[in-house]
Amino acid sequence: MGKQKILQALILALSLLLLIATAPTAADDSDVMSKLAAGLSPAPKGWSTSTAYCSWDGVNCDTSKRVTSINLASKGLSGSLPSNLNSLSQLTTLSLQSNSLSGAFPSLANLSSLQEVYLDTNNFTSIPAGCFTGLSSLQILSMSQNLKLDSWVFPSELTEASSLVTFAAGNVNLYGSLPDVFDSFPNLQNLRLSYNNFTGPLPKTFSGSGIQNLWLNNQLLGLSGTIEVLANMTQLSQVWLQNNQFTGPIPDLSKCVTLFDLQLRDNQFTGIVPATLMSISSLKNVSLDNNKLQGPMPAFGSTVEKSTVDGNSFCQTTPGTCDPLVTTLLEVAGAFGYPVLLADSWTGNKPCSGWSFIVCDPQGKVFTVNFDNKHFNGTISPAFANLTSLKNLVLSRNNLVGSIPDSLLSLTQLQLLDVSNNNLSGAIPKFPSTVKLVTTGNVLIGTTPSTGGGGGTPSGTGSNGTTPSGSPAQASNGPSVSPAQMGTMELQVNCKARAVVTFMFLRVEMLRFRSKF
Ligand SMILES: *[C@@H]1O[C@H](CO)[C@@H](O)[C@H](O)[C@H]1NC(C)=O
Ligand SMILES: *[C@@H]1O[C@H](CO)[C@@H](O)[C@H](O)[C@H]1NC(C)=O
Ligand SMILES: *[C@@H]1O[C@H](CO)[C@@H](O)[C@H](O)[C@H]1NC(C)=O
Ligand SMILES: *[C@@H]1O[C@H](CO)[C@@H](O)[C@H](O)[C@H]1NC(C)=O
Ligand SMILES: *[C@@H]1O[C@H](CO)[C@@H](O)[C@H](O)[C@H]1NC(C)=O
Ligand SMILES: *[C@@H]1O[C@H](CO)[C@@H](O)[C@H](O)[C@H]1NC(C)=O
Ligand SMILES: *[C@@H]1O[C@H](CO)[C@@H](O)[C@H](O)[C@H]1NC(C)=O
Ligand SMILES: *[C@@H]1O[C@H](CO)[C@@H](O)[C@H](O)[C@H]1NC(C)=O
Ligand SMILES: *[C@@H]1O[C@H](CO)[C@@H](O)[C@H](O)[C@H]1NC(C)=O
Repeated sequence: MGKQKILQALILALSLLLLIATAPTAADDSDVMSKLAAGLSPAPKGWSTSTAYCSWDGVNCDTSKRVTSINLASKGLSGSLPSNLNSLSQLTTLSLQSNSLSGAFPSLANLSSLQEVYLDTNNFTSIPAGCFTGLSSLQILSMSQNLKLDSWVFPSELTEASSLVTFAAGNVNLYGSLPDVFDSFPNLQNLRLSYNNFTGPLPKTFSGSGIQNLWLNNQLLGLSGTIEVLANMTQLSQVWLQNNQFTGPIPDLSKCVTLFDLQLRDNQFTGIVPATLMSISSLKNVSLDNNKLQGPMPAFGSTVEKSTVDGNSFCQTTPGTCDPLVTTLLEVAGAFGYPVLLADSWTGNKPCSGWSFIVCDPQGKVFTVNFDNKHFNGTISPAFANLTSLKNLVLSRNNLVGSIPDSLLSLTQLQLLDVSNNNLSGAIPKFPSTVKLVTTGNVLIGTTPSTGGGGGTPSGTGSNGTTPSGSPAQASNGPSVSPAQMGTMELQVNCKARAVVTFMFLRVEMLRFRSKF
């Protein structure tokens, strides 16, 4: 009997304890809510501390009196937000946009129920560290037009928000690169980061993303590099990249079948506008003006409502084909990725009047092309063969890869082919002895770069600096590189190259050894 009483007392005590233990939950929200009310001026209408916060205008609670949403958009509020706003652990929606709130942006860390945040158009001044940690339910983060924020970088912890659909942070003083983390956002549709100071290239993980709305226009210094990755962003509908420093050609966007708005003006795009752009039937609005685009001026069909193309390097001021010589030279430039250097000078339809790096004879035939030391990347275009009067082709001191095209053998007037100091590989075409061929400083020349291990197999030789090719060095079958030739080469190349050469030499020796048995 005594035992039963003790048990009853114990149960009572336990229940009391439990009550005390659960009470602070509700108290937490009332604490942060009264701090929130106290920090805002004027006090929002109907936010009287004498009434329960769950009945305040714009506040919603769940059945446990936990705050689930706060909506005070466009209420003319100034003041600042409490630093413990994130103790509203059941919060799903926070709408405080279009006020004059200042001070620190609220930390949202660990608000794992939070789905929608609207804090645009305020006067916040700083972003707390780790602000966006643990936002596992977040779908919309909209915080554009906070012009007074200290400069900050793309928040890496945002990658935890794998449900994110919309990230809008235009004009908020973001700087640095766009991190290559977009594979963390499989649901992302809207990325609006205009009017910041992002620099560097578009991230590779844009490829295959579901982004529809891509606003990266008007970065202070400008994003750079090519926009090749857009070709793989098949969900795109609106692309605003104007006022940046993008280079290279407009990619083939024919897989972007819902694209309706493409703003590319005021960049440094080069090359020929791909015909596939004109065949995207969804396209309504396109700006290409103030770039360095080349080739025929594009003509958009009547389904395109607005298009601007002025201020480029097109061959003519109206749509229509280019002179065949222009076409050939642009194909040559295309193999180098349409460098800006060429787009600057190669405008209009008359290459022989003033295009740099080419020299014509009085009949308007190109006889010299000299691209020595222009930092060009890419390959040697087979289209050089269309310059049928070419005598001198100098491509030395660039970063060209691939092989010397066989088509150059058709250049009957050719006297000098200097491809020295590049990164060419492959067999050297068998030029007649009338051609002075310079191939030094191409570690891999005469080899076929193998995919996956190994240094490549020697295939065709005779690359002895200035040897007139067609010299007897070329063996009819099998690899044969004389140690003497290797020695000459070795003197002319750097350390890294020496390793490759030595490796090749060892391989050749091994093959010889094997063939003896
Ligand atoms: C920010 O503050 C300035 C005055 O310092 C004011 O002119 C501006 O309207 C404010 N912006 C917002 C969005 O409240
Ligand atoms: C968020 O949660 C993690 C893990 O529970 C904790 O370590 C961290 O301190 C929390 N951050 C904040 C700002 O509450
Ligand atoms: C813009 O970014 C660059 C490079 O990150 C930085 O050096 C520069 O100070 C930034 N400019 C402004 C106004 O923030
Ligand atoms: C486009 O996607 C393909 C296939 O996933 C990939 O191989 C290629 O590298 C991607 N290109 C770009 C520019 O991202
Ligand atoms: C085209 O762009 C202009 C300027 O940005 C805009 O005013 C217009 O609404 C756009 N039209 C369409 C169809 O997107
Ligand atoms: C090069 O010449 C061939 C044969 O005359 C022609 O078919 C081809 O279109 C030309 N290519 C260029 C880029 O002019
Ligand atoms: C060649 O590639 C390098 C490295 O990607 C780049 O810095 C350089 O600008 C490129 N050259 C040209 C002429 O585009
Ligand atoms: C030369 O080209 C090969 C591929 O053909 C590449 O792996 C290597 O990095 C290049 N070397 C230089 C110095 O560019
Ligand atoms: C290699 O080139 C040198 C001149 O640079 C020449 O004297 C020599 O005969 C050449 N060797 C072969 C095998 O062609």
